[in-house]
Amino acid sequence: MELDRYAVVGNPIAHSRSPEIHAQFAQQTKQLLRYERLLAPFDGFAETIAEFSRQGGKGLNVTVPFKLEAYTLATSLTARAETAGAVNTLFWRDDQLWGDNTDGAGLVTDLNHNAGVTIADRRILLLGAGGAARGVMLPLLQMRPAQLTVANRTSSKAIDLAQLFSSHGKVAASEYEQLQGRFDIVINATSASLGHDLPPVPETVFSEGTFAYDMMYGGKQTVFMEFAAKHGAAIRDGLGMLIEQAAESFFLWRGIRPDTGPVHAALRRQLIQSAEQA
Ligand code: ATR
Repeated sequence: MELDRYAVVGNPIAHSRSPEIHAQFAQQTKQLLRYERLLAPFDGFAETIAEFSRQGGKGLNVTVPFKLEAYTLATSLTARAETAGAVNTLFWRDDQLWGDNTDGAGLVTDLNHNAGVTIADRRILLLGAGGAARGVMLPLLQMRPAQLTVANRTSSKAIDLAQLFSSHGKVAASEYEQLQGRFDIVINATSASLGHDLPPVPETVFSEGTFAYDMMYGGKQTVFMEFAAKHGAAIRDGLGMLIEQAAESFFLWRGIRPDTGPVHAALRRQLIQSAEQA
């Protein structure tokens, strides 16, 4: 019997954890499917997707650098993909190529359900104004925070982002140096952690009672997490967000919600092992 085919497409793609995550989801929910890695050439995203469809592919996760191209390629968009301006999940249904974005839902589920952090009525600081930040703006605002402040190195991008979402809640932009007072939740959506850098966030935003979240993940704490913890914050990395956005995609494709807890625990063990061996 032919198994339903899914894949994660990106460039590079060898490092992607998505195949392991979806294999565990499929096993747990007894879904018969195959999930692979798909390397698309930088100038060949649309062709790679078309070929995957011709071969019977049912759906895809999309990662760096193709989330904007996926947004353009989709023939129908969900509301959350439309506002995110980017697509991380594709699937074919009713003669349409649907584009959705499950990143923001993944973050909110990880914060709310897994970490037990309330977003409603809290002061939230979002660091960064690129694709990762934009993707989580609407889902965060839908939880009705008291205030969502966006800070970015290039401040014009923070101003644009705050403007874009101003009709969805209390959003403001700020320069890093001008950030005032402590925040309840600080989310690092910059790519600084990739280069082991710290965004220039003042230590005064943290205190005991602050929850600091880095969207990056790994076998060790990021410099942002170390800095936040040193100044009293509780910390969490983005592994839970990765797994929750995958669970949301799996639900879109298969109509069934996997239990993410055991998958999170297994991946954490693997990440720590790889870090120890490195
Ligand atoms: P992504 O899709 O991951 O959001 P991106 O769109 O390239 O990637 O955005 C990267 C974000 O990280 C930007 O907000 C960037 O700030 P600038 O707009 O000023 O470039 C931010 N960023 C990257 N490296 C950083 C660093 N070392 N310190 C602070 N911000 C950084």
